[in-house]
Amino acid sequence: MSKSDGHKFEGVARVLRERRTIHYFSQTSPPSEIITQAVDLARWAPNHHRTEPWHFYLLDRATGRRISDLNADIVAQEKGCKVAEIKRKRWAEMPGWLVVSCEISDEDLRRREDYAACCCAVQNVALYLWEQGIGLKWTTGEVTRDRRFFDLVGMSYDKVYVVGLFWYGYPASVPPQHRRPLQEILTHVVSRTS
Ligand SMILES: Cc1cc2nc3c(=O)[nH]c(=O)nc-3n(C[C@H](O)[C@H](O)[C@H](O)COP(=O)(O)O)c2cc1C
Repeated sequence: MSKSDGHKFEGVARVLRERRTIHYFSQTSPPSEIITQAVDLARWAPNHHRTEPWHFYLLDRATGRRISDLNADIVAQEKGCKVAEIKRKRWAEMPGWLVVSCEISDEDLRRREDYAACCCAVQNVALYLWEQGIGLKWTTGEVTRDRRFFDLVGMSYDKVYVVGLFWYGYPASVPPQHRRPLQEILTHVVSRTS
């Protein structure tokens, strides 16, 4: 990277630092072209053995509502109807719905690496959208492992698993976050051999 690219790098650093998980969105749905562009960029994520194990499902609001109903049914079994109804209402109001799946591999190491690759792809999406003023919330609730969820989205239960269900939209608010300081997570390793 040349010196003249310095300002771009600062731009990337800022997006990395400032991206936040968004819990509350405005009701306006972002243009679908921006989401498509984000998925197009996700393809460039690193993936070992070039397995490209991901698939992206961009859902319409009607499918989102059906998932909200399914989730409410699951929640009702465990936490009762009142909690389920609150969830149904909150979920049904989510302006954008994206599901990311990963292929199931028979091999342990490949399974781990494919999941890692999918997470890299998700981060590409998240960072690009954030730069466009759009936030994401990553969810991995029980509904994402339910066979009926796979049917609603059109995924094969035997061939893929869900990396996440993502809600996206323009943030109504951006929550603060905290990270441990650099010195707690960074160790400089210096060779001890002469
Ligand atoms: C694999 C994965 C699963 C997640 N699942 C959930 C979830 O089910 N519900 C939720 O509220 N946040 C979920 N998150 C988002 C994290 O809670 C969030 O990233 C964390 O609180 C840090 O906030 P930040 O993204 O604003 O830095 C998930 C994140 C990852 C990486």
